[in-house]
Amino acid sequence: MSFDHLAALPADPMLTLMQRAKADSGARKIDLGVGVYQNAEGRTPVFDSVKQAEFALWQTQSTKAYVGAAGDVDYVERLAEHALGGSAGLAGIQTIGGTGALRLAGELLARGLPERRIWIGLPTWTNHEPLLRAAGLRIAHRDLNDPTRGTLRHEALLDALREARAGDAFLLQASSHNPTGFDPDPALWQAFADVAVARRLVPLVDLAYQGLGSGWREDVEPIAPLLERVPQLLIAYSCDKNFGLYRERVGALYYRGASGEETARLREHLVAIARVSYSMPSDHGAAIVRTILADPRLRSVWRDELAAARDRVASIRATLAQRGRIGAVDLASLAAGRGLFAQLPLSAPTIQRLQAEHSVYLAPSGRMNLAGLNEHNLERFLTALDAAQRRSAA
Ligand SMILES: Cc1ncc(COP(=O)(O)O)c(C=O)c1O
Repeated sequence: MSFDHLAALPADPMLTLMQRAKADSGARKIDLGVGVYQNAEGRTPVFDSVKQAEFALWQTQSTKAYVGAAGDVDYVERLAEHALGGSAGLAGIQTIGGTGALRLAGELLARGLPERRIWIGLPTWTNHEPLLRAAGLRIAHRDLNDPTRGTLRHEALLDALREARAGDAFLLQASSHNPTGFDPDPALWQAFADVAVARRLVPLVDLAYQGLGSGWREDVEPIAPLLERVPQLLIAYSCDKNFGLYRERVGALYYRGASGEETARLREHLVAIARVSYSMPSDHGAAIVRTILADPRLRSVWRDELAAARDRVASIRATLAQRGRIGAVDLASLAAGRGLFAQLPLSAPTIQRLQAEHSVYLAPSGRMNLAGLNEHNLERFLTALDAAQRRSAA
C-alpha cells in the first residue's frame, strides 16, 4: 500500500499564521490573527464559572459511561431554552463544536436537498466553504463586498435567493459576522424570511458568537423572523466562544422539519451521520455548559464574565473607530460592526510587512481580532498600521 499518489496540499494560511505568531516570543508581538477572545493582559483565561462547574462535576460525576450519539439531551434542551428562548418546534443534537454542527448540517442537506446546493455570501469564515463542500454540497456564492460604503451588501445574497430553486439552502451568520463584523439589518432579516417562505428555501444559521456582539438576547433577536415563519431550518450553535471553551469543542445543531414527523426523520439521519463519523460527541464541555445553565448562581457569574468580554471588545472597537482614517484604512467604518472581528482593506505586502517589520499578526485577508488589542499595544498597532502602508506605497 502506498500513499505516493496523494498530492501535497497547500499550507492552511490560518494555521501557518498561528504557528508564526506562537514562534514569535518578542515582547512587541501583537497577535490579531486567531479568533479567540483575549483579556486586557492578552490572555485567553478559563472563565471562573467554568472552573466552578468543573469542580462541581468532579465532585458529583459518578460515571464516564457512554452518553449516546445525540449527546447530552439535558445540555441540548437547556441551551435551546437559554439561547433561543424555548422550543419553537426545534429539536437538537449535541455536536463537536460549531464546526461539527455545520458539518452535520451540511451532510443532512446533502442527503435531503434536490440539487444539493447552498448559497453563501462572501467574504465569510474561511472554513465555511471547504467544510460544506466536503459534506457533499454544491456551493453558489454572491460577493457582498461594498467598496463604496466599506461594509457588506447582504442584499446581494437576498437578490440571488429570489432566483434560487425551491429546496436550495442558504447560509447566514446570526451575529458578529466573521470576518467583517457587519451583520444584516432587521429589515433584511425579515426579507430573508420572506424569500425562504416564498421560494421554499432552507436557512442554515451559524450562531457562533451569541453574547459577544450586542448582548445575549440582542444577538439572536435578528433570527426571530426565520424562527417564526420559515418551516424548515437549521441552526449551528457554538458554545466555544461564549463560554471560553474552545478546545473542549462544544456545540449543538438545532433543526426543524416541515412537520413533527419530518423533524423526527431528520433526527434519525443526524444520529446516523454522527454514528458513522465519530459515534458520539465528547461529554466534558457540554457537561460544563449544562452545569452552568442549570445553576442560577453559576449562570450569573458566567453572564457577568461574558458581558465583561463583550464590553471590552466593544470599547476597543469604539476607540479604533474614533481614530478615523489611517492611510487607506477608514477605521470609522468599524463603528457599524459588532463582535471580535473587522477586516481591514490592506494589500498582501502591507500585511506581510506588518508581520515582518512590526510583529503584528493579521489574517491574510486583513481580518483582525480586536480582542488582541489592549491599552499597552493599541497605539503601537496604529503606528505600525500607518508605517507599513507608507512603506508599501513608497
Ligand atoms: C463563524 C464561525 N462559525 C463557526 C465557527 C466554529 O466554531 P467552533 O470552534 O465551535 O467549531 C467559527 C470559529 O471560528 C466561526 O467563526
